[in-house]
Amino acid sequence: MSKTISIVIFGSTGDLTHRKLIPALYNLEVEGNLPDKVNIIAVGRRDYNDEIYIEQLKNSVNEFSRFKINESLWDKFKTRIKYLKMNYSVNEDFKILKSYLDNLNSKENNQYIYYLAVSPEHFEPIVTNLKEYGLGEMPNFHPRLVIEKPFGSNLETAKLLNERIVQVFSEENTYRIDHYLGKEMLQNIMVIRFSNLMFEPLWNNKYIERVVINSSETIGIGTRGNYFENFGIIRDMVQSHLLQLVSLIAMEKPKTLNTNDIRDEKIKVLKALKPFTKEDFKNNVVRGQYESYRNEPNVDKASTTETFVALKAYIDNDRWRGVPFIIRTGKKLARKSTEIIIEFKQIENNLYNTAEKNVLVFKIQPEEGVFVSFNTKKVGNTTDLV
Ligand SMILES: NC(=O)c1ccc[n+]([C@@H]2O[C@H](COP(=O)([O-])OP(=O)(O)OC[C@H]3O[C@@H](n4cnc5c(N)ncnc54)[C@H](OP(=O)(O)O)[C@@H]3O)[C@@H](O)[C@H]2O)c1
Repeated sequence: MSKTISIVIFGSTGDLTHRKLIPALYNLEVEGNLPDKVNIIAVGRRDYNDEIYIEQLKNSVNEFSRFKINESLWDKFKTRIKYLKMNYSVNEDFKILKSYLDNLNSKENNQYIYYLAVSPEHFEPIVTNLKEYGLGEMPNFHPRLVIEKPFGSNLETAKLLNERIVQVFSEENTYRIDHYLGKEMLQNIMVIRFSNLMFEPLWNNKYIERVVINSSETIGIGTRGNYFENFGIIRDMVQSHLLQLVSLIAMEKPKTLNTNDIRDEKIKVLKALKPFTKEDFKNNVVRGQYESYRNEPNVDKASTTETFVALKAYIDNDRWRGVPFIIRTGKKLARKSTEIIIEFKQIENNLYNTAEKNVLVFKIQPEEGVFVSFNTKKVGNTTDLV
């Protein structure tokens, strides 16, 4: 008998749940990809009942989902959702969750997924309490844990968090999620690199001059002042999403498409990144802050937190030695766009001195697509290039 899957969302009244998680689950419903035996248990401290909560989700789905509300599918989807009032900062409240889950079904017939859509300081206490109240992994009971970024705020805190997690969940049941990687064009990077003869042989420092990764937003930090003050754009964007892009662009071909093989190759790239020296910080890193940042709610009036960064990084291996990877990201910039630009070198002794470099662009958002630019001649009796 197939198991019932219960997705327990901590932080069910928050931004991530409303803008991403519930719309994504609803989209699966519309596409017929959500098995019947999937329930959503929304944990929140607000004084809501199912009706109020579900009505709010409906508004969010209308606003943020790819598929707008279809009433009959929504009616089906909403029967999956249960709002469970508990304050996860109160240890005792985990009894509420425990008894709710115990009454649902036998553990053997239920696969639990705990999704922590909460601010990072709550990751560890929630995981500890799950164990404390008999909801952590045990022989014959293998719930899964999903954690959003940021995973710690430096190496030390990331290691500490990891140590706590592995006491409760095994590695194979721990998912450190970066939902960015689900974007269509990101999944295309490996396909384009590894399945096309016109790119694969050129993918190295002999032919590539530089790689530019731009990710800009027009909006500011909104109401996320508390979070942003503690992290800044380098921790928010670079160490998570953008280093994932670097590793997809730079990794060697994995042995197979198996997740472990891909992860192993990505890690090699991260390990080969050249650490920044003091000189590099001076010459290769620019930090900035948008003008009204210090007037945002919960932001220090003298804050030096960066909302923009541009940096030049190098990968110290045979394939990439000497090729700059330029990463730029920021808030409140002129346009919203994420793209990866691969700039090829000029052909030596080019017959056409006005020839431009070839460029391959992966457009990730808001538009999606792959663009290649190459030289052609102008129409007519001329050898001039376009
Ligand atoms: N938003 C995004 O697009 C995004 C993208 C990538 C990663 N993330 C990560 O996802 C996580 C959540 O982000 P978010 O933007 O959704 O944050 P958020 O809007 O601040 O949501 C936090 C949620 O936690 C709840 N909460 C806080 N303390 C609680 C308590 N003691 N008991 C029960 N519930 C409590 C809040 O409930 P109340 O409503 O009652 O305050 C709210 O539902 C963060 O780690 C963030 O870095 C978010």
